[in-house]
Amino acid sequence: MSKLIKIFAFFGLFFLVISSCKKDEIEIPLIPEVADTTGESRYKCKTTAYNLTQPDYFPPFPTPILNIEMTEERIALGRKLFYETKLSGDNTMSCASCHNQKDAFTDNKRRLSIGIDRRSGTKNSMALFNLAYSPAFFWDGRSPTLQKQAIDPILDPVEMHETWKNAIIKLKGEEDYNRMFYEAFCTADYDSTHAARAIAQFELTLISGNSTYDKAVDRTGNNPNIGPQFGPGEEQISRGFRIFNGEVSGNGGGGDCFHCHSTDNMLFTNNDFMNNGLDDNPSPGFFNVTRNEINRGQFKVPTLRNVEHTGPYMHDGRFATLEEVVEFYNSGVRANSKNIEPIMVFGDTINGTGSGIAGGLNLTSQEKADLVAFLKALSDPDFLTNKDFSDPN
Ligand code: HEC
Ligand code: HEC
Repeated sequence: MSKLIKIFAFFGLFFLVISSCKKDEIEIPLIPEVADTTGESRYKCKTTAYNLTQPDYFPPFPTPILNIEMTEERIALGRKLFYETKLSGDNTMSCASCHNQKDAFTDNKRRLSIGIDRRSGTKNSMALFNLAYSPAFFWDGRSPTLQKQAIDPILDPVEMHETWKNAIIKLKGEEDYNRMFYEAFCTADYDSTHAARAIAQFELTLISGNSTYDKAVDRTGNNPNIGPQFGPGEEQISRGFRIFNGEVSGNGGGGDCFHCHSTDNMLFTNNDFMNNGLDDNPSPGFFNVTRNEINRGQFKVPTLRNVEHTGPYMHDGRFATLEEVVEFYNSGVRANSKNIEPIMVFGDTINGTGSGIAGGLNLTSQEKADLVAFLKALSDPDFLTNKDFSDPN
């Protein structure tokens, strides 16, 4: 293939991925809540507006998020529901069972999730934060909105294995819930849609952006034209950053990580679906959603913020440690994997510099350790211990 054809192939693919993602953009409908006029209620309807804010160096929230009517009451209810074991078939499991705050809302005890019936799922639990920017949810992107996503785990036979009808009956037996639903949605006749909206609003408040790396960017006055300024004692992190943010065959022998785990948007993900070359014959991934062969093997590019706490790694939790992940990118990428992302194979072809990660990074053991040190500098301890996100019960 000539270089030109490769470039066209790359952009063609890029365009296809982008356009196939488009239809999955978040669309949380605005259902105006109508006050319950069918009788006197013991409770008062409350609408204390909540202003969702992000660090000023994050991108603006996508418009659909800005259109959500967030209120303190809905968030408080969502938080309570997130930790509610009554939502599961045998009252033992809540969302938090697989999404622990101290693990950045993932589950680092298990490679694959296990539900109430001790049946094992096929995927590693995902971290929950900065979700406002996500165009679609789950490793394969099968859920277009957070609200829709929150419906699924309750019903999933290998997760909480309950019917929403039953779950709502259990909640309606509790004074606290009847009051909180009324305060949040002005109705006594609440159902799964209200519960899912509340959970989604709580999830949107989970914002993480206060890591060692953020402090280094802060020192530049958030000027994107100046690289992060690491402080004293952070030389290793600084070296790791240069590998993370450098082209494979450019100066300094970079690892090209930033192309997918974006640094320019500060989110450490490009919010896209890609194949990073784990297997020759990859699992379907995004193909499950699009039914288009070109998407086979693509998975949601995970954010690397708090990655120190989100192991085991990859959609199937195949790597236990960050060292294993780095070794995979250094020497284990399957260049012949179906639909591998072209940048993994060709690198920065536009500048004519040749091969990508799949050709081997040849990092020294010092460089590998530096890269891991940088990944750990993306941890945000304030987020992991923020009391606003903990179990309210
Ligand atoms: C049994 C463990 C388990 C339980 C319980 C569970 N989850 Fe999950 N969660 C997972 C797994 C595993 C995935 C990835 C699944 C996949 O991609 O197929 C996931 C993915 C997600 C995602 C997608 C994140 C992203 O970036 O795309 C969200 C949001 C989420 N869960 C929220 C919830 C909520 C809300 C609840 C409770 C109603 C819940 N989960 C209950 C294991 C669990
Ligand atoms: C072509 C895009 C791409 C490039 C380049 C890339 N990654 Fe990834 N990365 C992904 C995708 C996609 C996944 C998820 C794959 C899966 O689970 O099937 C991932 C997963 C990871 C994970 C696991 C995160 C988790 O929560 O499970 C880590 C850590 C990681 N990458 C680090 C790196 C590092 C370090 C580099 C540079 C050496 C790099 N990545 C380069 C796309 C990329």
